[in-house]
Amino acid sequence: MTAPPITADYGTRAASWTERSLAAVWHPCTQMKWHPELPMLSIERAEGPWLTDHDGKRYFDAIGSWWVCLLGHRHPAVVQALRDQLDELDHIMLAGLTHAPVIELSERLSELTGNALGHAFYGSDGASAIEIAIKMSAHAWQHLGHRGKEDFVCLAGSYHGETLGALGVTDLAGFRQPYEGLVRPAFVVPNADSRQAQPGEDARAVALRQVKHLEALLQERAGRVAAVVTEPLVQGAGGMIFYDPEYLRQVRALCDRHSVHWIADEIAVGCGRTGSFFACEQSGVWPDLLCLSKGLSGGFLPLSVVLSRDALYRLFLDDNASKAFLHSHSFTGNPLACRAALAVLDVLEKEHVLAANRMRAQRLTSRLRPIAGHPRVRHFRQLGMIWAWDIADAAPGFSQQVFRFALRHELLLRPIGNTVYLMPPYLLEDTEIDALAGSVEAVMREVLA
Ligand SMILES: Cc1ncc(COP(=O)(O)O)c(C=O)c1O
Repeated sequence: MTAPPITADYGTRAASWTERSLAAVWHPCTQMKWHPELPMLSIERAEGPWLTDHDGKRYFDAIGSWWVCLLGHRHPAVVQALRDQLDELDHIMLAGLTHAPVIELSERLSELTGNALGHAFYGSDGASAIEIAIKMSAHAWQHLGHRGKEDFVCLAGSYHGETLGALGVTDLAGFRQPYEGLVRPAFVVPNADSRQAQPGEDARAVALRQVKHLEALLQERAGRVAAVVTEPLVQGAGGMIFYDPEYLRQVRALCDRHSVHWIADEIAVGCGRTGSFFACEQSGVWPDLLCLSKGLSGGFLPLSVVLSRDALYRLFLDDNASKAFLHSHSFTGNPLACRAALAVLDVLEKEHVLAANRMRAQRLTSRLRPIAGHPRVRHFRQLGMIWAWDIADAAPGFSQQVFRFALRHELLLRPIGNTVYLMPPYLLEDTEIDALAGSVEAVMREVLA
């Protein structure tokens, strides 16, 4: 079927906001020249999984607004917690000062790791957490007398953010290529994408086969490698690449054997997205440093954190100030963001959300079965509250085409290349799950016709 008309069908109010936005805002990750032909939604309100634009049209946020919206938009418990926090304390710097929300959040996150990761260092977004983790790792090796240990290893297809340090451990050319000269590149090892399974192999066998590349690299270079950086279980921006938890067990063992840190980037997969609060829990091993962001504050406010092992933290304790981790962001540990995160943790615990998600996931998976069976659909996959499938022979511009078709079905979708995925908010009623599946199916039917 041909794509809907190129010109976006804005209502009057929405059109005026869109025009003003295009005149004044430089939008992220966007070829601005494609607008306004490529629709831009000007959103006025949001509630639960729904976004409503300035003309009252609604859209189901099937990708949780870049994977941050964990419980649904404007969850009342988080809204109330923020109101209460605003009555007490807005913001203070976190050097020399502290406050209850950051203390409580740090304690609770540590408890969730079984106290394996005992200290929390805060940043503002995912990329800043990655910068913190890679600096901490290299600096910790310096404290141990290993000055040259400052190389990093990442997986093929990895994405860890777009500041220069984070780009160094990101293996997606589109994001990195223009800045190649500015970036200190990591060693990239082949990943354990379970789609690579040969006949007779399962995902675990792929993991065991593929980890040999990492083993060989570490055998050769571990003396100069500070850390291996991974997105546990699912490499998101690389195209929802799923892999077996066995890979992480092997990473842990190799890092221990070769005295290398393991940094787990749970920015996208943490906070229950893969079914357990931390994706690493499914592998039964903990990293040295673990990064969280996105859903941590329920998508309300920018917040990230690096959880570290106490042994690593203690390396920075010294009479000499220069041995401290002298890294700071103005909004480190912002009380409002931490209070939002505490409210999210409360909802997850009190409402047993992760247990309920298993039923939600089963329902959505079964409702999406017709898509999984389509002759052009490959590798339909689901883990926790992530669904993805690849389209064979997708034409150039497939992603934008799906985006456009989806809007006509009240749906916000943004495929990565030829991979369509869903990362919806968790708190979905059965009727919402069925409506989501129905709209996704309708979009796919039109796109693949
Ligand atoms: C795994 C992972 N790491 C890091 C980041 C960067 O986070 P931010 O966009 O908040 O800087 C992302 C963002 O998508 C991510 O998916």
